[in-house]
Amino acid sequence: QREWVVACSTDDIEEEDVIRFDHGSATFAVYRIDGNFHATDGWCTHEQAHLADGFVLGNEIECPRHQGRFDIATGKPLCAPVCEPLRTHPVRIEGGSVLIGIP
Ligand code: FES
Repeated sequence: QREWVVACSTDDIEEEDVIRFDHGSATFAVYRIDGNFHATDGWCTHEQAHLADGFVLGNEIECPRHQGRFDIATGKPLCAPVCEPLRTHPVRIEGGSVLIGIP
């Protein structure tokens, strides 16, 4: 059963940008690309680095630590040193709020 939680409002994220959202002990990265919103786990799958501190490049997020890249929509690792996929989470927009579905 998924829990839907409000991560931010749609205005909180600039186009082509990412913000951090913490919930309980978990942390997420919430993205806005071409007017669409996406959510992934916040921590890079390589080492300890928060992806919201990285850069959005088109449909990709570049990790701030060793410049590994993931596809934001699918979590697919795209270049070394990342090889583990990033977990993605469903997003819903309701009345100007961005909700993410947490497992
Ligand atoms: Fe992200 Fe190394 S911590 S690429």
